[in-house]
Amino acid sequence: MIVAGNWKMNKTPEEAKQFVASLLEQANATELREIILLPPALCLSAVREAAKGAKLSFGAQNCHFEKSGAFTGENSASVLAHMGAEYCLVGHSERRQLFCEKDEFLAKKVVAVEETGMVPILCIGETLQEREADRTKSVLESQLREGLKSLMMEDEVLEMSEKDDLGMDPLTGVWIAYEPVWAIGTGRVAGPDQVREAHGWIHSWLAENGFVESTPILYGGSVKPENAAELAKLPHVDGFLVGGASLEVKSLLGILRSK
Ligand code: PGA
Repeated sequence: MIVAGNWKMNKTPEEAKQFVASLLEQANATELREIILLPPALCLSAVREAAKGAKLSFGAQNCHFEKSGAFTGENSASVLAHMGAEYCLVGHSERRQLFCEKDEFLAKKVVAVEETGMVPILCIGETLQEREADRTKSVLESQLREGLKSLMMEDEVLEMSEKDDLGMDPLTGVWIAYEPVWAIGTGRVAGPDQVREAHGWIHSWLAENGFVESTPILYGGSVKPENAAELAKLPHVDGFLVGGASLEVKSLLGILRSK
């Protein structure tokens, strides 16, 4: 079970250091291996310093797809990797909605992140309006197809069976986070049936489109120690992407220990 803590725009470098120190005190080695911290980019150094010598992974919340250039205010994937980030979120719903990020850019970010050796975690999810209009699967399908387009490009003309015949390896390295927009930061977690259906569908889509069967799929949206156990049991839920409840060591560990 993976618990990735998306701190969003919270914590100063000093607070980040204190958080890591207290996490190292309270978590055992196995638990630490299951945690990924996603602090603001300006806290990466502080997290790296505080986590020195411990098996604790961390990553970034966003990046630009170019390696360098005239992109005021942006951070390249290579700089983030250089700072020790091992993962990078791509297309979080707040990036899509508040910063108008389009699938076309996200597809380039997925590739840029992969090229640095970091793992891209592509976030997908429907709005309440889309769910109510029975469009959940078509929205997820389009976000997956568009976001992963560049990875799939080379083999998209071949069927899976043809790929098997040719001995082609399945696509690896990318992770998916399913986060229904209506469940993020609202306290309204998706029900087990909704999560089971969405994760099952995403898993099949990935397999049909050339991705390795074990591609991790995280659930995100109001995950807390009180609701994590039930969701963790569901098939194809490989972990959680947690916002609010990842800001305190107690609730972050509470989620991990609830299973
Ligand atoms: P939340 O956020 O846990 O506060 O709902 C999840 C996320 O945005 O990744």
